[in-house]
Amino acid sequence: MSPSSEQVMGVLTKVEEPELRRSLTDLGMIRDVEVRRRKVSVTVALPAADSASRVEISTRVRAAVAGLGGVKDVAVNFVVMNPQEAEALTRTAATPGGPRRSASIPVSAGAPAAGNSQPGATAPRSPLGHEQGRANPFGTNSRTRVIGISSGKGGVGKSTVTVNLAVALAQAGHDVALLDADVYGFSVPGMLGITEEPTVSDLKMTPPEAHGVRCMSMGFFLEDEQPVVWRGPMLHKALEQFLVDVDWGDPEFLLVDMPPGTGDVALSMAQYLPTSEMYVVTTPQPAARKVAQRSAYMAKKLKLPMRGVIENMSWWRSPGGEREYIFGQGGGTQLAEELGVTLLGQIPLDTAVREGGDSGAPITVTASDSEASHAFANLAKAVAGKGRTRVFHPELTVR
Ligand SMILES: Nc1ncnc2c1ncn2[C@@H]1O[C@H](COP(=O)(O)OP(=O)(O)OP(=O)(O)O)[C@@H](O)[C@H]1O
Ligand SMILES: [Mg+2]
Repeated sequence: MSPSSEQVMGVLTKVEEPELRRSLTDLGMIRDVEVRRRKVSVTVALPAADSASRVEISTRVRAAVAGLGGVKDVAVNFVVMNPQEAEALTRTAATPGGPRRSASIPVSAGAPAAGNSQPGATAPRSPLGHEQGRANPFGTNSRTRVIGISSGKGGVGKSTVTVNLAVALAQAGHDVALLDADVYGFSVPGMLGITEEPTVSDLKMTPPEAHGVRCMSMGFFLEDEQPVVWRGPMLHKALEQFLVDVDWGDPEFLLVDMPPGTGDVALSMAQYLPTSEMYVVTTPQPAARKVAQRSAYMAKKLKLPMRGVIENMSWWRSPGGEREYIFGQGGGTQLAEELGVTLLGQIPLDTAVREGGDSGAPITVTASDSEASHAFANLAKAVAGKGRTRVFHPELTVR
């Protein structure tokens, strides 16, 4: 005798979503159960069509339902949640019992339903969702120069440099976008003074713009002061959407405030942005060796070319007009030598630079004639002047 749909629902309460570790029924992911002449059909709603959990969910549902007596065949169908449903899912997942915190981002708004999926029949997961015909706007044929800004250690002014370099490039007439990929320490929207959120239309998110720079950041999708505890696939998915589902408008430059280290996020970035050029921000302390090792290691691991060094906090101008080398001297030059690249710019330490970051009015906008703004303008010229040739440095070794 075939089971009732209530019995099928009963076993589904024990099937966990592999990533969120909550039952599919708890998460509201079961859309429909149909039983017809010992054939059971279960429809599962996914937050995105190419959800990494799809195959595993299908396997688990089939195994659980097949365990009921009297079942001859199990079909698992998938549909895609609308953004509101996806948001509700992440909210449920974040309640006690689920992961401590997950962000809600508009997930594949309007993406077509995934259709019937038998295990093994699922299309291989493409890193950029090609199975839905969504193309990576920053693939190898793109005109965009992707400028990854990294640092060998925290707090050296990576985000400050990224934001002001972006504004300086825009002021020089370039079409500029900025991706805040520092998902755990996002600070770019605040530094650019962006308060509005991206607008979401049927299929795309449109990034807000400030001072001529279009910007996308995880910060737009999180409540203030919430610690971000992303789980791998969700993060991967979010980064993918930041690139594929955002209407970037074919910019000339995409600056990327890189995540620290060479973890999953950085690897995803490198995979999604295969033409990235890497630039390292450092301070003048002559402790470059360690930073050089880390940077070289990163470039090698991510398989991206290292193209230049930017020294920040190089000197402070005393009221008498003298340069004072508060953090020492020579760190940038030394690091550039170690990496076999050029020192592209030196940015002075200036209270107005910090204030600009804190208030969301970058110094390059508020005091374009200041020494720091000139330094950023020269840096922009140097970066633009380098051209887009990919330069690999075989001498870059990991020690
Ligand atoms: N040239 C500068 N002059 C004065 N203050 C600066 C300068 N560069 C950065 N700062 C200040 O130093 C602090 C750290 O800068 P920022 O947040 O840009 O660093 P970061 O490398 O991105 O840090 P994290 O590793 O935490 O992401 C900020 O308060 C910023 O305003
Ligand atoms: Mg930062």
